[in-house]
Amino acid sequence: MIKAEAKKRIEKLTKEIDFHRYNYHVLDKETLAPAALDNLKAELFRLENEFPEFIFPSSPTQRVAGAVSGKFKKTIHSLPMISLFDAFSQNDILAWQERNENYLKKTLKPIYYCELKLDGLAINIKYEKGLFILAGTRGDGKVGENVSSNVKVIASVPLNLRRPEISELKALGLSEIEIKNFLELLEKGIIEVRGEAIMTKKVFVELNKRYQAEGKTLLANTRNAVAGSIRQLDSRISAERKLDFYAYDIIFSSGKDSDSKVLSRGELIKTRGAADKLASLLGFKSLKYNTLCQGLEDVFSFYKEIEKKREALAFEIDGVVVKFDDLKMWEILGVVGKAPRYMMAYKFSAEQATTRIKNIIWQVGRTGALTPTAVLEPVRVAGALISRSTLHNFDEIRRLDLMIGDTIVIERSGDVIPKVISVLKNLRSGEEKIIKAPKICPICEGKIDRVGEEVAYRCLNKNCYAVNLRKISHFISKGAVDMEGVGPKVIEQFLEIGLIKDAADLYTLKKEDLLSLERFAEKKADNVLKIIEIKKKIDLAHFIFALGIRHVGEETAEIISKLLISDLEMMEKGKGVFSIASLIKYFLSKNLDYFQQINGLGPIMGESIYNYFQDEHNLNLLKKFDDNGVEISLTAFLKKTKIENKNFKDKTFVLTGSLLSLTRETAKDKIKELGGKVSADVSVKTDYLLLGDDPGSKFEKAKKLGVKIITEEEFLKMI
Ligand code: IVH
Repeated sequence: MIKAEAKKRIEKLTKEIDFHRYNYHVLDKETLAPAALDNLKAELFRLENEFPEFIFPSSPTQRVAGAVSGKFKKTIHSLPMISLFDAFSQNDILAWQERNENYLKKTLKPIYYCELKLDGLAINIKYEKGLFILAGTRGDGKVGENVSSNVKVIASVPLNLRRPEISELKALGLSEIEIKNFLELLEKGIIEVRGEAIMTKKVFVELNKRYQAEGKTLLANTRNAVAGSIRQLDSRISAERKLDFYAYDIIFSSGKDSDSKVLSRGELIKTRGAADKLASLLGFKSLKYNTLCQGLEDVFSFYKEIEKKREALAFEIDGVVVKFDDLKMWEILGVVGKAPRYMMAYKFSAEQATTRIKNIIWQVGRTGALTPTAVLEPVRVAGALISRSTLHNFDEIRRLDLMIGDTIVIERSGDVIPKVISVLKNLRSGEEKIIKAPKICPICEGKIDRVGEEVAYRCLNKNCYAVNLRKISHFISKGAVDMEGVGPKVIEQFLEIGLIKDAADLYTLKKEDLLSLERFAEKKADNVLKIIEIKKKIDLAHFIFALGIRHVGEETAEIISKLLISDLEMMEKGKGVFSIASLIKYFLSKNLDYFQQINGLGPIMGESIYNYFQDEHNLNLLKKFDDNGVEISLTAFLKKTKIENKNFKDKTFVLTGSLLSLTRETAKDKIKELGGKVSADVSVKTDYLLLGDDPGSKFEKAKKLGVKIITEEEFLKMI
C-alpha cells in the first residue's frame, strides 16, 4: 500500500472503530461484533506499524477502552483496571512465553492458573472492614463509574465478607503469621474483589420471553444485558435481571481509605490458586472449572476441554485466561502498555470477522444455477482460515450493496458455510468496483437466463461441463446412489478426458480406461469398477433423488417411490427388480395433474417432476441407464416399515429462509400432515424454528427466546 492510501485507510479505520466503540462502551449498544471490531483494530495496528508517521494521539490503539459516561458518580481505582492481551492459537501462547523468557533473560517453567474468561462486565467491589462500601465499573481503567446500588442487588455479591475459619486458611497453605495478618486486614483494612458480573443463559431466555409478552424491546445478548442493567440508574431493573458475580482477583490494602497502602502481589497470599479459594471463603461464588496447569501442554488441554464444554455451560464465555500462579511473578513481570505480561486471554476463535472482497467468481451448480462466490483476503473465523464465501445469488449482492474492494463483516458458526453479513461502507475509498450480473455461463460461455420469478441465473446449455460435473457428482453422492470411493475429483478426471458425458456412462467404464488415468493403480480401478457394478441395482427413492430433478429432495423422492412401488411391482410380477424402461413407461402414462395432486408434493414439485419426464434429453439419459444394465431394486424398500412420528404431534413450527431440498410449502404440509402446527411468527409458544438459507429476523428472535432451532437436515431426520 502506498503512503497516501495508508493514511486514508488509517483515518477511515479510526473513525469506524471509534463509532462502534462509542456505541458499545458509552451507549451500551453493540453495532459490530467485538471480534469483528478486533479485526479492524488489528488492521489499524498493522498499518500504524508500517507507517508510524500516521500514529495519531487520538488513534484507538493509543488508549484503553471505555469512556466514562456522565450519569454516574466517578470512582478512582486504587490499582488501574487494565485490559488483557489476546491469544488465538497455541503459537500465540508459545510466543507469549518466549517474550516473557526474553524479558527476564531466562528459561521459564511456570505453573499457570487457568480460568474461564467470563463474558460480562468487569466490576471492582471495595470492602472496608469487611463491609461493602463501593462498586465501580472499569471506565477508562483509572476512573470508573460508581454503580454500587446496582451491584448491591446482585444476590451472589456478599455485603459482608465472610470471616473464614482458621482451619480453612491453614488448608490454603497460610502460615500462622499470615493468617493473623489476613484476619487483621479483614477486620481493619480494605479488600477489593474484582470480577465479572454476568447473566446466565437461562435468565436471559426467561427475561426475553417475559419482555416479549410485555411488548418490550428484547435484550440482544447476555453481555449487553449485564452492561445495560448495571449502567442504568434504576436499581429495580438490575434486581429483576438476576445477575451473578464471579471473582477473579483480590487486592489487599492496609490502613484506612485516605492513607491506605496497596499491598504488593504475593505479599499476603502467594498464589492465584489460593486467592481464588480465598474468594470463595470470603463468600463469593467460585468456578469449579478453574485449574492449575503444570505447563503449556496442560494449558492447551484445559483450553480444548473448556471449548468442548462451552455450549453446555450455564453462562457465556469467550475463552480462558492463563495466569502465572505465583503472584510474585506478577510484580516481576509487570505491565506493558495496556495489559499485564503475567496473564493472557486465550480466546476462542471469533465467529465474526472483517475482511476485504478481492473478487467475485461465478460457479455453476447441478441445476445450472449460477452462484456468486466472494474471493476474500484470508481471515480466521471460528477456527478456520476463510478465503471464500458464497453469496447465494445476484439479488444478495444487490441487497448487501456489495462492491469489489469492500470491507465486509463475515460470520461463521461451527461448520456452517461462512456468510457475508454486512458491508462497512464508511471504509470505501472510491476505488471499489461495481459487480455486474453475468451475461454468459462462465464455464461453457453458453446462454444464461432467469426463469420466471427466480432470483438465480441459470446456464441453459444442457451439456455444460460444470453442470454435468455437478449432476454426476450428485448422482454418486451419499443420499443418492452412494458410490463409495468415487468422488467429484474422480468424476472430473473421467469428464476431462471424455470417458463419460453423463452418469449413465459410468456403467460403461472398463479397467483399461481407468488405468490410463493419473493416480489410478490396479487396486483403485478394481474398487471403482466393483462399486459401479454393485450400484447397477438401485433403490427407487435413491434413483429418483439421484436424477437431480429440480425441487426433488430425498424426502420427495421417498414420497414418489412409495406411491409408485406397488404399481411397478405388479408390472414386474414380484421379481424384486424392475427395469428403467418400466419406470419411463409409468411416468409417461401420468399427466401433470396426477403429479400435482400427490399428497405432500404441491404444484411446483409436481410440475417439475412431470416436466423432467417430458424432456427428451432426460428420457435419453434414462434409456441409456436401461441399456447399460441399471435396474431398480425393491428389496431395500420392502424392508422399510412405516413409523409413527411423535416429533410433530402438537408442536408449533416457524419457518425462516429458503430450504434446499423441499419448498417451504411442502415443509409446512409435512408438518401438518404429521400432527404439527405452523405459525408465521416466533413467540414463546414456538417449539421449533426451521432454519433455511438466508434467514430473516425470526432467527434472531428465536435465539433471544431460546426457541429450539433446527436445520433442514435435522428436520428431514425428524420426518
Ligand atoms: S483477570 C487485567 N480473569 O476479561 C484484567 N479477567 O478482556 C484482567 N475477564 O476486563 C482481569 N474473565 O473483565 C480476568 N477469569 C478472568 C476473567 C477476566 C473475564 C474479563 C475482565 C477483563 C476482560 C479483559
